Amino acid sequence: MIATILKTRIQNAIMKKISYFFAGLFFAGLFFLASCGNPSEQNQTLVKPGITKVDWGQADGKKVELFTLTNGKGTQIKISNYGGIVTSFIVPDKQGHRSSIVVGFDSLSGYLAKPPYFGALIGRYGNRIGDAKFTLDGKRYTLAANNGKNALHGGLKGFDKVVWDASIINDSLPSLKLGYLSKDGEEGYPGNLKVTVQYTLSNDDELKITYDAVTDKATPVNLTNHSYFNLTGDVGNTILGHTLMINADHYTPVDTTLIPTGEIRSVTGTPFDFTSPKQIGRDIDSVKGGYDHNWVLNRRDGSLQEVAVLSDSISGRSLEVYTTEPGLQFYTGNFLDGKLINHDGKPIKQHSALCMETQHFPDSPNKPDFPSTILKPGEKYHSETVYKLIVNK
Ligand code: GLA
Repeated sequence: MIATILKTRIQNAIMKKISYFFAGLFFAGLFFLASCGNPSEQNQTLVKPGITKVDWGQADGKKVELFTLTNGKGTQIKISNYGGIVTSFIVPDKQGHRSSIVVGFDSLSGYLAKPPYFGALIGRYGNRIGDAKFTLDGKRYTLAANNGKNALHGGLKGFDKVVWDASIINDSLPSLKLGYLSKDGEEGYPGNLKVTVQYTLSNDDELKITYDAVTDKATPVNLTNHSYFNLTGDVGNTILGHTLMINADHYTPVDTTLIPTGEIRSVTGTPFDFTSPKQIGRDIDSVKGGYDHNWVLNRRDGSLQEVAVLSDSISGRSLEVYTTEPGLQFYTGNFLDGKLINHDGKPIKQHSALCMETQHFPDSPNKPDFPSTILKPGEKYHSETVYKLIVNK
């Protein structure tokens, strides 16, 4: 009797062990199959979204910091409060290899040497104002002529070269809030302009930039970000092989100093037609100096909508651009000359990278027919732009 009970117990224990073994084998198999899936998914480590900072030196006697915004997919964007500069935007390609899709430097000294606005916030007026002059409410204002006879990107010391007050917002998404008071008369512009810019990184790899400003005197305001993109993540490749679509039936032709003539011209039948996706290199040789023009976006109502898509087949990366602005400056890095070295150790040459600067049209303060850029006391300037990275597998 006892022997039979013992025998049954031993048999049961053995059966249990065997079933645990097979169950274990089954789950191990499932796990193995899951991890054999897409190679890029294997590399996609889930991380806790957040924002960290390190000291990055000094400028204007103020502390400069470098902030790292990380999302749940491990995408990282580094931004400094010096010039509000986006120094890197690190994302995977179709193979899962991570690299920065924007050009930049790893140290502050590179930026103090005044590169051509790499990744920077641009203000008080993005792009050019003709003859560095404008008249507002009957008064003539003279700005610094820092681009031939014209004023470019806010002047000698624009918003790209000042230290912004930074505060970290660590809600559900990592976000960096930057504030700057541009004093009445700074770089020749009227009024104390209080500016706030907020950078947020979503879990869908969207970099959202929100610009707000108020003034105590009427002033032109046109804020943008001057990131230079190369979706291959390697400035050894030019951007001429990238494909671009701009949702714009018109552009603003320019004179020899890149000031709009005032005409709003159709892109149809011209090298400026990007209404359906086109390789950037296809028609570039017919545009003297390369593309450096403002496209008049079809969307007119000021809502946040997709206005451009940039794609690269080497990396499988695409970048969608959304904005509330009426214009897009598409610049093919024509003035880059290989003298500056990117964080990947390679020289940044002509067409190594391109800019898609969301904006109001250049020289609007002197072009009454263009959408107005004048901000008056009591009004609120508000503008939003989103750069969304997609990896096509
Ligand atoms: C803008 C301008 C270009 C050039 C760059 C900076 O994109 O339109 O002409 O000045 O900035 O080098």
